[in-house]
Amino acid sequence: MCGIMGYSGARPPLPILLSGLERLEYRGYDSSGVAFFDDSDEIHVIRTTGKISALKDRVGKEEGHPGSAIGHIRWATHGAATVQNAHPHQSGPIVLVHNGIVENEQALKEELRREGVRFDSDTDTEVLAHLVSSAYRAGSDFPSSVQAALSRVEGSYALAIISRDHPSDLVVVRQGAPLLIGVGEGEAFAASDIPAFLHFTRQVYSMKNGEIAFIRHGSVKVGKLLDPPSEWKTPEFSTVSWDPFFAEKGTYRHFMEKEIFEGSRAVMDTFSGRIVGDRALPELLEALGERPGSITMVACGTSWHAALLGRLFIEAATGIPVSVEIASEFRYRPILSSREGWIVGISQSGETADTLGAIEAARKTGYKTLGITNVPGSTMERESGACLLTHAGPEIGVASTKAFQAQVAILLLMSLALSPGHVSMERIESLLRVPVRLESFLESMVSERFDPVIDRIRQSTLVLFAGRGLDYPLSLEGALKFKEITYRPADGYPSGELKHGPIALVEPGVTIVAPMIDSSLRTKEVSNLREIRARGGYVIALGPDIEESQRGVWYDDKVDLPHESASTGIFQAAAVLQYLAYRVAVMLGNDVDQPRNLAKSVTVE
Ligand code: AGP
Repeated sequence: MCGIMGYSGARPPLPILLSGLERLEYRGYDSSGVAFFDDSDEIHVIRTTGKISALKDRVGKEEGHPGSAIGHIRWATHGAATVQNAHPHQSGPIVLVHNGIVENEQALKEELRREGVRFDSDTDTEVLAHLVSSAYRAGSDFPSSVQAALSRVEGSYALAIISRDHPSDLVVVRQGAPLLIGVGEGEAFAASDIPAFLHFTRQVYSMKNGEIAFIRHGSVKVGKLLDPPSEWKTPEFSTVSWDPFFAEKGTYRHFMEKEIFEGSRAVMDTFSGRIVGDRALPELLEALGERPGSITMVACGTSWHAALLGRLFIEAATGIPVSVEIASEFRYRPILSSREGWIVGISQSGETADTLGAIEAARKTGYKTLGITNVPGSTMERESGACLLTHAGPEIGVASTKAFQAQVAILLLMSLALSPGHVSMERIESLLRVPVRLESFLESMVSERFDPVIDRIRQSTLVLFAGRGLDYPLSLEGALKFKEITYRPADGYPSGELKHGPIALVEPGVTIVAPMIDSSLRTKEVSNLREIRARGGYVIALGPDIEESQRGVWYDDKVDLPHESASTGIFQAAAVLQYLAYRVAVMLGNDVDQPRNLAKSVTVE
């Protein structure tokens, strides 16, 4: 969590940093700050609580002197969201910003206190500033003092550091938290994520864990934390294809709304070039060898829901047993070794600490590792044995929407790739039609046709989402989306489970949203919904072929989906569930793109 940014170049740095931090704001928004030089080469630090807009107000017309500068947005872990705990943190000539956690903070703090250091904040980051400063004052040069300090630190960090004595220089380090360097004409940028500097350059180097870089204007030297600076080298930059437009709201009111409507493009781009003749994802088996004996999927949140759908696709198409695990639980259980097994981690950001930890734990017991992520250059892409990229483009809204659609798309492709026999052209063609069908459905979704159900949902005391088969993961996802941006009570269940407990919650005022894509289980689902209605619950059915004559019999209201293949229906139903949550949250006046207490990538356990 948290986002960091650094700049070194000939332009006034503050407009660049503020625009970059704004694009990183999805990573946290408890507080923010910048450090920069003035015309007399003095460092200034400006910090504030709240969002970047508050920082912009504090910065005013100040643009900073050309040279180096750093900035930060915070998702609080150590200490409350106060100005004192906001980054940058300064100790003497050293000023730094940090994303990560110092695990031996207490021991280091006690030691520094014994040496007479006074701490001004409750953060673990301040320890780092004092350590670098004390190494620097003891006579090390700037980059070497960072190396000396970090040799004492346990934990994860991405750091951007400036020194009062070197107004053009920037030192950045990556150990367990993402950090990318972008290089332009006579200038360079470092940031937690690419959109922060995508407007300035597409030439990107994704730092590896344990790497440190020394940046002065357009010159970038990278080395290992243990190597002397004289051995550091200019890295190879690659061109990212992401369009800066993705990171703009355009005519939409919120990123989330824009991203819901980008769902069809996300699916289209994820499919593109992935089917050759009757084979999907040929690179998959080339990278990992034979079909696996079993698959274990690990993920968190929305990505876990995509994995639950993936299990259904893969088991049905391939006969390979698939288990789906919540990463934070799986990684701390005894993992039974499986030499023929694949561990498949799914993560939009590719940086979720628990998912990465779960993959690593399984790798150690002999699993082959496959990552599915949306972020090129992420830790997941770099550290998995093989990686499949989804191509949703940058997702800025904290609530995941188009990235979920892209994950579902790639899992459908994976089910084809692992099919033992020949995949029929009919199946392939039907899949390739999905993005176009989704696109035309999304075009129809902007109408007022949802208003009555949205109004009903908004007035409900509790909203339950329930379904069977394919509709169960969709229900979980509908409930998560609803909770995270409306802050209203909601939950998702397999419909067959309702009468084992949750049905006790049902009374007038409670609404049940029931996705009904899985036609094979419709009769059973209808019985469950009748049970709900019999107890005063209000049922909103979402699916194709819901007969008007049944209104008032087993449902109260409905959202019609076109009669399509189940594969298309999943994407359409997901879009509706996202949109319902979005519309209710907007009506409630909530901050849809940056819901309270959340951050986009959860890089701490
Ligand atoms: C989704 O709306 C959530 N914000 C969250 O559950 C998210 O899916 C989860 O944190 C996993 O993130 P990842 O896909 O980047 O690993």
